[in-house]
Amino acid sequence: MKPKVFITRAIPENGIQTLREHFEVEVWEDEHEIQREALLEKVRDVDALVTMLSERIDKEVFDSAPRLRIVANYAVGYDNIDVGEATRRGIYVTNTPKVLTDATADFAWTLLLATARRLIEADRFTRSGEWKRKGIAWHPLMFLGHDVYGKTLGIVGFGRIGQAVAKRASGFGMRILYNSRTRKAEAEKELVAEFKPLDELLGESDFVVLAVPLTKETYHMIGERELKLMKNTAILINIARGKVVDTGALVKALREGWIAGAGLDVYEEEPYYHEELFSLDNVVLAPHIGSATHGAREGMAELVARNLIAFKNGQIPPTLVNREVANVRKPGFE
Ligand code: NAP
Ligand code: GLV
Ligand code: GLV
Repeated sequence: MKPKVFITRAIPENGIQTLREHFEVEVWEDEHEIQREALLEKVRDVDALVTMLSERIDKEVFDSAPRLRIVANYAVGYDNIDVGEATRRGIYVTNTPKVLTDATADFAWTLLLATARRLIEADRFTRSGEWKRKGIAWHPLMFLGHDVYGKTLGIVGFGRIGQAVAKRASGFGMRILYNSRTRKAEAEKELVAEFKPLDELLGESDFVVLAVPLTKETYHMIGERELKLMKNTAILINIARGKVVDTGALVKALREGWIAGAGLDVYEEEPYYHEELFSLDNVVLAPHIGSATHGAREGMAELVARNLIAFKNGQIPPTLVNREVANVRKPGFE
């Protein structure tokens, strides 16, 4: 009998097709995400689970899933999963690095440029007929934004995505600063990037891009103190996780002009609505779509399938998150 996998969302068909050759596959087809109770019910007899970043996979889920051996997260970030608890139980956890790096770095730049040049405000102005109504064809002081070329870019979290963001900056003639847990000697050389303590990076950068995972250490790492260290002409871009930034402090900073603007793809809760933040003109907002390209999402689906199939064949999955789990249980369903 084929092992059973439950997929909590309709992921791209390429991944599902491949999985069907090796697993009995059930997909949650509803447009709305699966409710907690339904998830706890669905996992009761599954051997494998494909999850989204919007699902909390914790002790309660594991308790409900006695057969569960592997959780393949359809995301690179896995802060939604209690990995320690999974490891203790011998449950393998995988994620989807690399295949979404370029798409997400492109999107960081999309937000950066759109925020700097006030693209969304300008689009609203043009599309609504306001431009025509005003009757001013061109004005030297209309929609002035911030220069990007030749400015200083500060990247917080210099991993795959952070470095891909830096790579794109060379075309913009930028000075590149970065902060990370550890120094990256090779990347420093290749990308001409300077390591800076966080406070210095914040003080010197015209654009700050957040690309860290959400952990205990990065929770609210950008708060009131940090926002006050930034230049009042600087722009903050968050494509990491919402909880890396203290939203209350950010709203204050944007309203009171401690910083010039923000481009956000991620929020402290999702889906999100924040009346005051969303009413500000100096923010550009996206609904967590950093990796949302056809190519990246298909790559993620394929990688999820590769992880599950490798595990089924008794191999260590290619993008295993909890390496120590192999000491608890060998890969495979029996
Ligand atoms: P990665 O390669 O693991 O890079 C993360 C980097 O952050 C690493 O270089 C790490 O440093 C650094 N870091 C960790 N804790 C830190 C801290 N306390 N202070 C400073 N730096 C710290 O991961 P990635 O593939 O680039 O992805 C990064 C994150 O982006 C994901 O975890 C996810 O949350 C988010 N993401 C969002 C989207 C989206 O749709 N918006 C898409 C993809 C990813 P070391 O190398 O020294 O460990
Ligand atoms: C998206 O946010 C991811 O972590 O893949
Ligand atoms: C702008 O359109 C210019 O020609 O300077």
